[in-house]
Parts: sequence; structure tokens; C-alpha cells
Amino acid sequence: MLDEKNFTKYLSRHEIDAAVQTLAGQINRDYEGQELVLVGVLKGAVLFMADLLRHIKVPTEIEFVRLSSYGKARTSSGTVTILKDIQADVRNKHVLIVEEIIDSGRTLKFLYERLKSAGPISVEIVTLLDKASKRVVDVPVKYIGRPIEDQFLVGYGLDLEEYSRNLPDIYYLKYPN
Ligand code: IMP
Ligand code: MG
Repeated sequence: MLDEKNFTKYLSRHEIDAAVQTLAGQINRDYEGQELVLVGVLKGAVLFMADLLRHIKVPTEIEFVRLSSYGKARTSSGTVTILKDIQADVRNKHVLIVEEIIDSGRTLKFLYERLKSAGPISVEIVTLLDKASKRVVDVPVKYIGRPIEDQFLVGYGLDLEEYSRNLPDIYYLKYPN
């Protein structure tokens, strides 16, 4: 059972919103005159995807993938499988992968390579949070909302064993385990 008194606020909804708006501004500038396919990574990225999408001004399609690498564990197992794939044909399109947080980079590397092989004009990555010190594989992340320390975070889509995704702010766990 979750013990919310062990949650300490890390980013408020206002700070999250400011980061989302800054990212959207960069994306709107970079893709001006182009069309985009946003590929959200389920489930964690849903809130970020929805908020980012509201600020995107270029013509945009949305797709979702669901990958499994973690299960209920809190660290990546390294093996990635596709649970739900995109439906759209991304040939000759600009693809932007939307993640809420990058840790080892394994999940994203797998998805990035896979989408690149589908014949798009470009594939880039946007993440709200980046735990760069935890990176195990190299993956090119073009847009980063906030670099963060190695902490386990919950809220705003991020879960602890599937709970707490609904919290509008982001928290870190004082006593993880
Ligand atoms: P990676 O493959 O190790 O980069 O794992 C990335 C995925 O693990 C993210 O998309 C999240 O779903 C999950 N994840 C990584 N760090 C956290 C965290 O601090 N809280 C909750 N989920 C996390
Ligand atoms: Mg995720």
C-alpha cells in the first residue's frame, strides 16, 4: 500500500507547465511548416503527451506504443517487448517520440531504432525528465524539459507499482522500497 507521507514534492504543476510550454515552443519553431507524428510511450507519458499536444501548433497526428521492460520492478530489466504498436504509416513523416522520463535509455533506444527503420523523414525524442547519470545506452534526446538527479519519482503519469500516476505534481520517495 502507498504511504503518501513518504512523498516529498519535487516539481509543482506550475513548474511542470512551464517546462511543457518551453518544450512546445522549441518544437513549434523547429517544425514550422511541417507535419508531425507524436508517438507517446504508454502509460507514463499520457499526461505529458496531452499537455504538450495542447501547445503544439503544427498539424499533428498522435500515436501510442506500449513497451514492457520494467514489469513491476523499479529498475529496467533490459529486455524490451512491444505490447502495443503504432497504427500509422510513418514513411515520409516527421516522428517525435514523447517520453515522460528517461533512465537507462534502453526502452527508448529500442523504440528509436524501430521507428527509424520504418522510413520516416526524421525521428527525434522529447522527454519531460532526464536522469542522464543513469544512462546505460546512448540515445539522442533532442528536447529535455528538466535534467534530474537519480531519484525515483511519482505523479504526473509516473507510477509506483501502477499507483500515483494521477497526482498533478511530481514527488520523490523519501524511503523507497
Ligand atoms: P529506461 O528504459 O531505463 O530509460 O526506462 C524508462 C521508463 O522507466 C520510463 O519511461 C518510465 O516508465 C520508467 N521510469 C524510469 N524512472 C522512473 C521513475 O523515477 N519513476 C517512475 N517510472 C520510472
Ligand atoms: Mg515511460
